[in-house]
Amino acid sequence: MVEMRDISISFGGIKAVDNVTVDLYPGEVVGLLGHNGAGKSTLIKCLSGAYQKDAGEILINGERVDINNPRDARAQNIETIYQTLALADNLDAASNLFLGREIVGPSGFLDESAMEAETRKIMARLNPNFRKFNVPVSALSGGQRQSVAIARAVYFNAKILIMDEPTAALGPQETQMVAELIQELKKQGLGIFLIEHDIHNVMKLCDRAVVMKNGQRVGTVNVNEVTDDDILGMIIMGKKPAKAA
Ligand SMILES: Nc1ncnc2c1ncn2[C@@H]1O[C@H](COP(=O)(O)OP(=O)(O)OP(=O)(O)O)[C@@H](O)[C@H]1O
Ligand SMILES: [Mg+2]
Repeated sequence: MVEMRDISISFGGIKAVDNVTVDLYPGEVVGLLGHNGAGKSTLIKCLSGAYQKDAGEILINGERVDINNPRDARAQNIETIYQTLALADNLDAASNLFLGREIVGPSGFLDESAMEAETRKIMARLNPNFRKFNVPVSALSGGQRQSVAIARAVYFNAKILIMDEPTAALGPQETQMVAELIQELKKQGLGIFLIEHDIHNVMKLCDRAVVMKNGQRVGTVNVNEVTDDDILGMIIMGKKPAKAA
């Protein structure tokens, strides 16, 4: 689905990402791990169009593509869910879901009821317990907000989802809810890059893990072939276990 080959990007002479290669298959969750400043967010920003890489190439479904801005990324069905969710607090779930891509009726007015009906449909699939359709999203829990953001991406046909620390601000129950959402998206064949600090969540949610340190890729492992300690060793020592690619 995605191949990022030999990606490099520097800021003022400092290599934030140094010759990193990662790939992603449909229905797969690939974790991006590493200490603060390792280059995780910078790497995926080259895919989301927020940054432009200095070198390397990006292939989507085997074809070389140019991603120079978020619009280019969206055209490739790549959607990003940032930790600080870009939701409009004062609007309800439906208005957030359709923000900037509203359904307009024949008379030229916003078709509120169509947007709410579509929102109810997709939330029934993704988060069946969700009831808070008619309140501003500021009144939602962190997990519920996360599910609105995910619904927005999925509704607009995301195939490749980038999630930068989706559970960082969530309690255990909310984290569990996001975990279930991720499982559901996998079943639907989406590929997900997941930046995650909590090793427990990595082991639970990811199929493969890519560890970065100082902008470089330490290694890529199949999560079910390594232990928590193997991965922590890669993060801390920058050393890969024998079975890593
Ligand atoms: N816009 C920018 N301008 C200058 N330096 C930047 C910029 N964005 C990132 N950097 C630098 O690039 C390096 C990698 O940062 P990045 O945000 O990718 O790290 P990260 O792995 O996502 O860390 P964290 O876990 O803290 O989110 C850091 O040294 C950071 O200071
Ligand atoms: Mg980051």
